[in-house]
Amino acid sequence: MKILITGGAGFIGSHVVRHFIHKYPQYNIINLDLLTYAGNLENIKDIEDAPNYTFVKGDIQDIDQMRGLFTKYEIDAVIHLAAESHVDRSISDPFVFIKTNVLGTATLLQVAKEKWQDNMEGKLFYHVSTDEVYGSLEDTGLFYEDTAYDPRSPYSASKASSDHFVRAWHHTYGLPVVLSNCSNNYGANQFPEKLIPLFINNIINEKPLPVYGKGINVRDWLYVEDHASAIDVIFHKGRNGETYNIGGHNEWRNIDLIKLLIKLTDAKLGRPEGSSEKLITYVTDRAGHDLRYAIDASKLKDELGWVPSLQFEEGLGKTIDWYLENKDWLANVISGDYQKYYENQYGSAIG
Ligand code: NAD
Ligand code: DAU
Repeated sequence: MKILITGGAGFIGSHVVRHFIHKYPQYNIINLDLLTYAGNLENIKDIEDAPNYTFVKGDIQDIDQMRGLFTKYEIDAVIHLAAESHVDRSISDPFVFIKTNVLGTATLLQVAKEKWQDNMEGKLFYHVSTDEVYGSLEDTGLFYEDTAYDPRSPYSASKASSDHFVRAWHHTYGLPVVLSNCSNNYGANQFPEKLIPLFINNIINEKPLPVYGKGINVRDWLYVEDHASAIDVIFHKGRNGETYNIGGHNEWRNIDLIKLLIKLTDAKLGRPEGSSEKLITYVTDRAGHDLRYAIDASKLKDELGWVPSLQFEEGLGKTIDWYLENKDWLANVISGDYQKYYENQYGSAIG
């Protein structure tokens, strides 16, 4: 099988590529990535010489390039992760999200349909999406696969739109598809604009920790390698046209998570327990900040037998260790444009 994985130089994509390369030496993996600020070939350096691996730099919006790539590599299946993924960036610059996440996905769907339409047997378009499409929960309740879509940020609206296009290509043209909607991921190689790596980096460097609003928003955290294993199970066993929620059953209020992160990181740095709590700085809330996400992943468990493998403290500990052991990776990604982003996003609030 020849599988096109898009966004494989990003955070989750790099773990998915590595998982498939090691577990399925009989598959050929073609990793297509534009290498935006979020894409980094260092994330997959360890597998770049694997015999079943090819990297292609390219843009999912470029229909001619995508047509050429499907023909050249005789693609049988797509696992589509390439996207603009950071909510704060979508608030300051929404159009790049619309272009990449909506037009880019529609472009890939169209090319898959063109190339596969004579024989859809054995073909699959797997679309990786987010729980944010379901909107925001109050203190109780969960997101189910049939929860009505209610996206509230330009990021989540663009992902919701892409999900609709995937289903439209399935129903209209018979494209074999499967979708998954996952909760917040954490782990190695996450770009330090997202809460956990940003805060680990700032704790290490004794910089302010910018907590949005009152820190009472709730997220449901899943270790990235567990997301990769869920994608593997859904790719192989998911039913055509179905959607599967993926989550860790692991809800945390931001402020509680931040205090745990401080405790674990201080301990690893040999600092007195809780000493970095003084870095906590409450800043203006994110515009339209969703209060709570929480996933019901029982369909995935009951139908396909997947459950997460790691407890949160263990996963968080492994994640902190990775950032402490990979200071060069961090130093590289926070040079250049990152400083400009950081200044724009947080400058006056915590400068
Ligand atoms: P990321 O921002 O770390 O990586 C995205 C990758 O896509 C980068 O390597 C980037 O270079 C690439 N890319 C961007 N535009 C492209 C284009 N036009 N053509 C080709 N490649 C392009 O994102 P992530 O956090 O790894 O998320 C991956 C996917 O998983 C996204 O679709 C996201 O919506 C979804 N998701 C993320 C989370 C999470 O917590 N991070 C949770 C659920 C779902
Ligand atoms: O739920 C899945 C989604 O999780 C994915 O689809 C997105 O791609 C991913 O970025 C993530 O979105 P969030 O907005 O939930 O993640 P983020 O790490 O940006 O923020 C987590 C929480 O922490 C959120 O409530 C906002 C808050 N926060 C974030 C940052 C960056 C802060 O309080 N301060 C910060 O500086």
